[in-house]
Amino acid sequence: TGVPTINILGRDYPTDSYTNITPTIISKLPLQLHRQPGHPICTLRTLIESHFASFSHLSSVSPIVSPYQNFDSLSFPADHPGRSVTDSYYINKDVMLRTHTSAHEVEVFERGEIQWLLTADVYRRDEIDGSHYPVFHQMEGARIVDATESSISEIQEDNERLLRHLERSNIVIEDVPHLTPANPAQPSHNRIHSEAVALNLKLYLNSLLLELFGGSAGATKEDPLRVRWIEAYFPFTSPSYEVEVFFRGKWLEILGCGVVLQSTLDRAKVPNKIGWAFGLGLERIAMILYSIPDIRLFWSSDPRFLSQFKAGEISTFKPYSKYPSCFKDVSFWLPEQAEGDAKMHENDFCDLVRDVAGDLVEDVKVIDKFTHPKTNRDSICYRINYRSMDRSLSNEEVNVLQAEVVSRLKDRFGVEIR
Ligand code: DAH
Repeated sequence: TGVPTINILGRDYPTDSYTNITPTIISKLPLQLHRQPGHPICTLRTLIESHFASFSHLSSVSPIVSPYQNFDSLSFPADHPGRSVTDSYYINKDVMLRTHTSAHEVEVFERGEIQWLLTADVYRRDEIDGSHYPVFHQMEGARIVDATESSISEIQEDNERLLRHLERSNIVIEDVPHLTPANPAQPSHNRIHSEAVALNLKLYLNSLLLELFGGSAGATKEDPLRVRWIEAYFPFTSPSYEVEVFFRGKWLEILGCGVVLQSTLDRAKVPNKIGWAFGLGLERIAMILYSIPDIRLFWSSDPRFLSQFKAGEISTFKPYSKYPSCFKDVSFWLPEQAEGDAKMHENDFCDLVRDVAGDLVEDVKVIDKFTHPKTNRDSICYRINYRSMDRSLSNEEVNVLQAEVVSRLKDRFGVEIR
């Protein structure tokens, strides 16, 4: 009797209508790639930590947080889409998996840390392809100082020193103004202070990017690495920016950052400070630095993957083989639902497929959508690309997986297969 529960990292949690965490996701929680010596994600963490040598380094904070930590403490509005069960993993209505490392800002500032890095696994419901995985790693960094003339002049001196260092580099950085009407200083901030802090943030990050990408990744005088700053919006910073790196013909977003919202610092009981924070995605950066072509590889336990890497060293990944793809389509009528009820979401489909096939699925694409003109029913066709990173799959075993996908679609979502 009693309410149904789910065991996660050794603790039982009651489940409810929010519960959407799957066994596949639960199995990732203990792995913590950022703490496995020799793993590229761990090496990248230590490399960045040594660049921020005077900062505190945190890397063992539980991924299980409250929606208050993940959203409210950072001033996310009540109706922000990130809160929905289609975007985030919930254990129940009051307990979720962090979607970003910013979830820990208030508690870390509250502990009195003034310059710190925090590395952790984060979880998001998403599509399936070569650069998206429902678990990935972020590093949060922050620096706050007293909001006084003397502390700000120290920041300004720091800025002069960093500027001189960056002059001699082989990366090309496109900048945006620190403050604009659409990306303003906060009302409670002195403009000069806000600008000094924003510049300090940009200089710290540009010097990190120069260190990471300026050397071995092939940046030269003739073919420099291109980095661009763009204006952004986050609920918990103003001004806010994103940084993108030009890689293999496209701009890749690698981090978000900004001047910390005063309300965050008030909640952390450090109201007389001002400072910056950033959150960067480690997989994206590691894929560039190590030439790792598929995000699933980070989760491989194949010695042909893991044995290529040495702790503390960036090296170029040598693909051991590309095994054949096996495509399977499934086409079905979406269940008819009561007014206002959400339809089966693409992320629901992707989680179902991941739960059946794990890392044997490379990508999932919608190849057809159709609404019946008379009955108004919606039909959708997905193409699942099954491919192992380690071996050839037989058609028989893929058929077994596909049959399981179809059977769960019928049982869980009541769809009618076409
Ligand atoms: N948490 C944001 C994300 O995951 C990134 C971010 C933006 C972190 C701004 C920050 C920040 O610390 O100040 O997209």
